[in-house]
Amino acid sequence: MKIILLGPPGAGKGTQAKVLAKQLGLAHISTGDLLRQNVSDGTELGKEAQGYMNKGALVPDELVTKMLKTRFDRPDVRNGFILDGYPRTLKQAESLDEILKEKGFSIDKAIYLDTSDSVVIQRLSGRLVCRKCGANFHITNMPPKVSMACDNCGGELYQRSDDKEETIKNRLEVYKKESSPVINYYAEKQKLERLPADGEAGAVLETVMLLFKKHNDSLKVK
Ligand code: AP5
Repeated sequence: MKIILLGPPGAGKGTQAKVLAKQLGLAHISTGDLLRQNVSDGTELGKEAQGYMNKGALVPDELVTKMLKTRFDRPDVRNGFILDGYPRTLKQAESLDEILKEKGFSIDKAIYLDTSDSVVIQRLSGRLVCRKCGANFHITNMPPKVSMACDNCGGELYQRSDDKEETIKNRLEVYKKESSPVINYYAEKQKLERLPADGEAGAVLETVMLLFKKHNDSLKVK
């Protein structure tokens, strides 16, 4: 399966992608995670990207697309992948088509996790992330068993620097302006699946799994 997860910041793209990747043996490609890795490694890309990320603005298309292209050179993508956080602009959607064409891939589904503003604000303002393995928690929705420690690896949990109220508002505005056309782009290609995603994470996962099952069944029938 080659999947794109679309949706506003806090829709649960990372949460769902991590579980799906593990259960289905797919590569999880998160441009946000790749950028944060570059920032913490102090690479040239990280230095350039950091200012945009701290403000909740988009990192310029050329930088992110170059980074993504390099990621697609790794062999794990051949077994299928879940793209999380890319494309975010129409230009990125067109660049993705070119990258995939070069690799002989095509997207099966673009899944839009449809969430309301109040839900995403509540989710982002309480998000905790593991410094060591990147697992996601939430102060109230998905609290860790031990305060500020990761259930999976015991690593320290922290709040992302762009999860502050002002930055969250800006990220939502940027999303509405830049990323809405991307949803139409996949709707026109008849690849879009819109799933309600305000509910709890397990229920959202079940809906996504049902969708995959339907897709696989329809391939078998053909
Ligand atoms: P990125 O890391 O991609 O952030 P984002 O799109 O803003 O998405 P988030 O990671 O905030 O949310 P999510 O949907 O993954 O939600 P999550 O599962 O964590 O990008 C960060 C920055 O990098 C951007 O602002 C930009 O500067 C730059 N960037 C990245 N990609 C770029 C690109 N392509 N072009 C240009 N710039 C780019 O869940 C959130 C919280 O809610 C968690 O605490 C979780 O535990 C909880 N939760 C999740 N699902 C549920 C649920 N169903 N019920 C209850 N709680 C839930």
